Parts: sequence; C-alpha cells; structure tokens
Amino acid sequence: MAITLAFDVYGTLIDTHGVVSELNGMVQDKAEAFSHKWREKQLEYSFRRGLMQNYVTFDVCTKHALDYVCEFFNTPLSVSQKQHMLDFYKTLPAFMDAKESLSAFSQRGYRLFAFSNGTSRAVESLLESAGIKAYFTDIISVDDIKSFKPNPAVYSHFLRKSKAHGGQSWLVSSNPFDVIGAISSGMNAAWVKRSGGIIFDPWGIEPTLTVEDLRDLTEQLPKHVNTR
Ligand code: LAC
Repeated sequence: MAITLAFDVYGTLIDTHGVVSELNGMVQDKAEAFSHKWREKQLEYSFRRGLMQNYVTFDVCTKHALDYVCEFFNTPLSVSQKQHMLDFYKTLPAFMDAKESLSAFSQRGYRLFAFSNGTSRAVESLLESAGIKAYFTDIISVDDIKSFKPNPAVYSHFLRKSKAHGGQSWLVSSNPFDVIGAISSGMNAAWVKRSGGIIFDPWGIEPTLTVEDLRDLTEQLPKHVNTR
C-alpha cells in the first residue's frame, strides 16, 4: 500500500505568523510578540479544552486567544478590528515550500491528507484560498471526535478514517507536541524544524525524521522509507 502522509495544517503548511503584516497597523511595534502569544494561547486553549472535555471548535479557541492577547499586551482592538483579524486568519498564506512539495509527493504516488485541529470547513477554505487544496485526498479533522491533538484518540481517528496502517503513515508537522502525539500513537512522524531556535521537547520520544522544511522532506523521506 502507498505511504500515507498526514500534513498538519496551521504552522506546517499554513503560516500562522502571516498575521504580522495585518497587525502592524493595529498594535504598533508589538506585532511579532502579539502573533507568537496569540498562537501559543490558541494551542494552550485547545490542550485545556481537550483535557477538560469541554470542546469548542478551534475557531473559538482562536477567538478567545485573540481576546486574551489584546488584554495581555494592553492593546485593545475594536470589534471590527478583531473581526478583521479573525477573517484574515481564514485566508492565511501557505509557506513558500508547500505547493511544490505537495505536488512532488502527489506525483510520486503518496496518499496526502490534511490533518488538523481546525474544522473540515475551516481547513477546506483555508487550503482553497492558499491554492493547495487539490493535492489532498481528504481533510481529516479532530472536530469529528470533538477533541484536540495530542489526544491519542485523534491519531487513531486519523488512521481509521484514512484507512491507513500506523507503520505506513507519517505525520508531517512543525509542532513538537504533534510529532510526539503521533509517534506515541504508532505513526511515524517527520518534524519540520522551520527555524534553528525551536527546541524539541526532551521527553525521550524522538521524531522518526527531522527536516528543515518541506522541500527537504521531499528529499529525505523517500530515502528513509526505502531503507526501512
Ligand atoms: C493543526 C494545529 C496543530 O493544524 O495547528 O492541527
């Protein structure tokens, strides 16, 4: 059976820090820090919602995180500015290497899935607007089971729905917590270490493969798969 690739969406295919240019006019010199804190808080809310079994969609986590971060930096945004940022979040850009890498994998016969905390609907329009939707066989969302990564149930759901076997499947993610979650659930996982400064959590669970970006993955993954 062909190798199955489960691409994480936010932060791996889609650049969540694409919000910085929009924020510049609203939060002055705090745009970079604001963007990082917003992302951090969005993920924290998803983890806590998962643990508390008090599910809301990822869009709601994003909205609540935005409200928090405005307070945190003492940079109040108007209702329409907040709405503008949330609308902008639905059309975030893909990373530069996404299109050519997805195209290369798809031409080589891999099965490509988008696998995300976002709802299928949100991810579908995001991938569509970034011009990369056509490469995917399907979108698999945690929303189907009302929990979030890295709940093991979410990775099992991916394998069931994609009809893939763990040993033949690879999560591709820039998020260390996602990589650790997938490996703990019996999948392989490639960590896309997009910048030198990111630290992989020292839990004694290592990525199956570490690459610099998605282009690097197109070179490294086939070698790794063929030598196993
Ligand atoms: C996702 C989160 C992890 O796309 O950003 O699943």
